[in-house]
Amino acid sequence: MADAGMPQISRGLEGVYVDESSVGKVDGQEGRLYYRGYPIAQLSDNSDFEETAYLLLNGQLPDRQQLESITKQLAESRDLPKGIVDIIKEMNSKADPMDILRTATSALSAYDTEVQDASPEANMRKSIRIISRMSSIVATIGSVAAGREYVAPDKSLGHVENFLYMLNGARPSKESLDIMRVMFIIHAEHSSNASTFGTLVAGSTLADIYSAITAGISVLKGPLHGGADEASVRMMRAIGKPENTESYIESALAGKQKIMGFGHRVYKTYDPRARIIKEYLIRLQDHSSEEVRTLTAIALRAEKLMVEKLGQSHGIWPNVDFFAGPVYIAAGIPVELFTPIFAASRSSGWCAHMLEYWKNNRLFRPLEYYTGKIDLEYVPIDKR
Ligand code: ACO
Repeated sequence: MADAGMPQISRGLEGVYVDESSVGKVDGQEGRLYYRGYPIAQLSDNSDFEETAYLLLNGQLPDRQQLESITKQLAESRDLPKGIVDIIKEMNSKADPMDILRTATSALSAYDTEVQDASPEANMRKSIRIISRMSSIVATIGSVAAGREYVAPDKSLGHVENFLYMLNGARPSKESLDIMRVMFIIHAEHSSNASTFGTLVAGSTLADIYSAITAGISVLKGPLHGGADEASVRMMRAIGKPENTESYIESALAGKQKIMGFGHRVYKTYDPRARIIKEYLIRLQDHSSEEVRTLTAIALRAEKLMVEKLGQSHGIWPNVDFFAGPVYIAAGIPVELFTPIFAASRSSGWCAHMLEYWKNNRLFRPLEYYTGKIDLEYVPIDKR
């Protein structure tokens, strides 16, 4: 029987506004995404990560001096304390790279003398250090996993170029650098998604920014969120040959499986980031490896079938994670690092939201409608 006192519950907080924000806007009906008012395609075409991070953190594009200043601050914070490198080495091969990133990012607080200073200025400085060092951590996770030593950062390089340099111990090709420039910009921000909300929930208790960002990393890890990029490329590899695509997808759908890299709580049309990555992938195709060409062919066939079956009818379209895998592989990135790279880039959006939220902080404390029993009589253990 229906419970008359039952409040309206929005499972998964669907459709619930938790605050105002001017950081990012997702228009799920029209398939548009804006960072501080700028359409994502303008940024991915023209910007770099430093400028985009400045935009997110400060609300407007930097002038030359401001850009030089944030570029310098990011470069100067890059080097990792030995204790952090030791954590990465200790966890290498025993833990998932997202777990290593989560632990190492959390441990960064031990090396930040401003950790307890909650002033907006200190939180901005800490944000820049976190954004800088999370990329160094991810690069070092990859470098150590590949059997190399810690590669000390090169301050003369841009943020993304240095990331690839620390990852591979060598300067990247122009092509890899451009791919990763686009991927770092595209993943930087996405309004109140699960991981940003997780960050804000932790920060709303007035826990420090390291705690908040560590919460964000934890939330991003799952395959329903950031982990879908890895899951979708693993699916493409399992499909193996382009001609197997349709039968694989049909049988997965018949078995009620979700196809990773499709569907979104807010976009009920094509995710604009997926469109940008897809176009990039198509441009890359002719001069990429056989593996990338095969994965691209599989991805395009899977996309066509999914859009025909579930696009208009169910609002299930490719999301940012679907085409990301083949693009990362073209840039020489191992699959295990896809989600950690997403986190390293997203740290800029998380920090921007956190700084904004703390200007008018209120503890998050939603309600649950209790459906269990009440007033039970306690029974001693030997009488149960
Ligand atoms: N493949 C097949 N069916 C799907 C998919 C999919 N990828 N996504 C949703 N559906 C179906 C569900 O099975 C469900 O069908 P039903 O009503 O018959 O049971 C219906 O669509 C609604 O799905 P929900 O999971 O309830 O929708 P929600 O808004 O909660 O889901 C989500 C959004 C979690 C992203 C979902 O689409 C999904 O699991 N996608 C696959 C994982 C993924 O790609 N995640 C990355 C999202 S982008 C990001 O976070 C960076």
